[in-house]
Amino acid sequence: MTELIPVLSDAEIAAIDAEISHVPYRSAVAIDALKIVQAHRGWVSDESLRAIARHLEMSAEELEGVATFYNLIFRRPVGDRVILLCNSVTCWIKGCEKIEAAISERLGVKPGETTADNAFTLLPVTCLGACDRAPVMMVGDELHQDLDLASLDKALAKGAGDE
Ligand code: FES
Repeated sequence: MTELIPVLSDAEIAAIDAEISHVPYRSAVAIDALKIVQAHRGWVSDESLRAIARHLEMSAEELEGVATFYNLIFRRPVGDRVILLCNSVTCWIKGCEKIEAAISERLGVKPGETTADNAFTLLPVTCLGACDRAPVMMVGDELHQDLDLASLDKALAKGAGDE
C-alpha cells in the first residue's frame, strides 16, 4: 500500500521557502516552519510534521524533537485561543495557582483541556519572560501581566471577543 504524502499548501511552502532563503541549510528554519504551519492550521498534526520534515530534508524524528522542545508548538488540536499560563517559580510565588483555579472555574476546563465550545485551551507553560510583572499569561498573542481576579476576567472577556 502506498503511503499518502500530505502536501503543504502553496502559501505554507512560500512562507517556509522565504525563511529558507535567509539561512545556509533548510533544517535551520525548523521552528519557523512549524510556526508557519501552525498559524495556518491551528496545530501541527503528525501528517503536517512529516510534510514539513520532507520539505526541510530532515527526518520526522529530528523535527519531532524540535517540536517537543519548543512548547509553543501544539501537537494536538487546540481551541480558537490558547491560554498559556506561566507556572514557573516567580508566577507561582505570586499566586498563579489561584489564577489557574479561577480560569478552571470560569471556563470549566482543567490544564490541558479545551472548552466545550472550542473557544479556549488552557495550557500551563514555563517562564514567559515577564517575571517582574508576575503572574503572567498569554491569551492568543496578547500578554497579560500583574494578573488578579479582576484583570483575569477582563483578559478572558477580551480573549473571547466580548470587549
Ligand atoms: Fe512567570 Fe517568568 S516566572 S513569567
